[in-house]
Amino acid sequence: MKILFLNGPNLNLLGRREPEIYGNRTYGDLEQYIRDFCREMNIDCEILQSNHEGVLVDAIQNAMESMDAIVINPAAYTHTSIAILDALKAVALPAVEVHLSDVSKREPFRRLSYAGMACEKTYAGHGFEGYRMAAEFLLNREKQ
Ligand code: DQA
Repeated sequence: MKILFLNGPNLNLLGRREPEIYGNRTYGDLEQYIRDFCREMNIDCEILQSNHEGVLVDAIQNAMESMDAIVINPAAYTHTSIAILDALKAVALPAVEVHLSDVSKREPFRRLSYAGMACEKTYAGHGFEGYRMAAEFLLNREKQ
């Protein structure tokens, strides 16, 4: 199974960015974490982070032919981007939304997720583990 892991703006600053919310581990640590569990789970993974909405949209579109599923943490674009929602709907691949923090317990504007409307499942507040949970969900879904 091939999964695209997409991460949105400011996640490249993990480790330095609001560590009381996002923890001390870096974006490099997150990539390593994803690569490690993908190897264990026999998943072929591609990982991409961008601060630019259009780059994320392009990556979703490119996944249409080459990937089986998408795990996405759109970061702040979660709450603003109809373009990302539309791209996820357009490619119609199984998608799962991940947030490191529990967005439901933060500012009210973080409760709305456009991307989530095109995702089969959301894992929020589990830190890095949320990415593994998303991959497990997608693997189990494929077995059914
Ligand atoms: C985030 C939550 C978003 O509200 C925020 O804008 C982020 C990160 C998370 O992983 O908890 O940048 O997606």
